Amino acid sequence: MSFNPQSNLLSVEIAGIRFNNPVLTASGTCGYGLDMTELIDLNKLGGVCTKGLSAKPMRGNAPWRIVETHGGMLNAIGLQNIGARAFVEEKLPELRKYDTRVIPNVFGYTVEEYIEAIEILEDGEGIHGYELNISCPNVKAGGESFANDARQAAAVTEAVKRASTRPVIVKLSPNVTDVAAIARAVESAGADALSLINTAIGMAIDINTRRPRLANVTGGLSGPAIKPIAVRCVFQASRAVRIPLIGIGGIATTEDALEFIIAGASAVQVGTANFYDPAATMKIVDGLAEYCLRNGLENISALFGTVILE
Ligand SMILES: Cc1cc2nc3c(=O)[nH]c(=O)nc-3n(C[C@H](O)[C@H](O)[C@H](O)COP(=O)(O)O)c2cc1C
Repeated sequence: MSFNPQSNLLSVEIAGIRFNNPVLTASGTCGYGLDMTELIDLNKLGGVCTKGLSAKPMRGNAPWRIVETHGGMLNAIGLQNIGARAFVEEKLPELRKYDTRVIPNVFGYTVEEYIEAIEILEDGEGIHGYELNISCPNVKAGGESFANDARQAAAVTEAVKRASTRPVIVKLSPNVTDVAAIARAVESAGADALSLINTAIGMAIDINTRRPRLANVTGGLSGPAIKPIAVRCVFQASRAVRIPLIGIGGIATTEDALEFIIAGASAVQVGTANFYDPAATMKIVDGLAEYCLRNGLENISALFGTVILE
């Protein structure tokens, strides 16, 4: 069965954004969306989260930047990107021709840098909301990641909300002791939705050279290996906040997506799976529609957060 994009079965509203279906591509795994057009139908995708954008272009880290692991991969790309201005001028005009929601992922190394990037993106026509990657070191606060400290996470959220006319989705990190506490802080600071999780920090060593396999020494672990951590984070956040959640982490199949939705997510993002199964998002859209029909659900939202604990 192929899902009819006009059907209401899968349409969801998150942070005031109406998505045709709850399946998005995750930041950093599909460039600026346009790289995927030869492989998938963007009109059938709920939304595209772009590679992280900063106010100025960035070259990223030296190689090696990617290492395969069991059930996943480690990456330390170093947030290479073309910059917010080039995105608005070169990518957005093409991207807005598609019937999909466009969510630029935004980062900075100070609160001011986030604002600078947002101010450039505010000029862009065809952007539906922003996703804030707060897993970046705040160079003005000792280099601790914004995502690891409730006060820093709230401060950047609040500042971006003030600078933005569009909904703001804040992307949480699993590399924290209490993800619920960060979720609550970010919600109080005005976030319209949360997406979780970003990668889990990992490391790999070449036993022959005894050197780290990534030039950056550590990197972000992604793929099926992190799925149970991500489901747990979504579940805990769903108990802590009222704003909608977007689940991310190791999603490769319809069953994976359903697990996140039942845990409390209103949508999902597919990341690493795009590298080994570029059609994964399309299969998940069809699979979710099929599941709804088979179970007599009028809309996928009937499943949100329906995990049974007793
Ligand atoms: C190569 C690569 C680049 C990524 N770049 C970004 C990025 O620029 N911004 C961001 O917020 N997340 C980035 N991520 C994290 C993903 O968006 C996602 O949160 C994470 O990989 C977990 O999902 P997955 O297991 O489906 O890949 C990147 C992940 C990978 C694998």
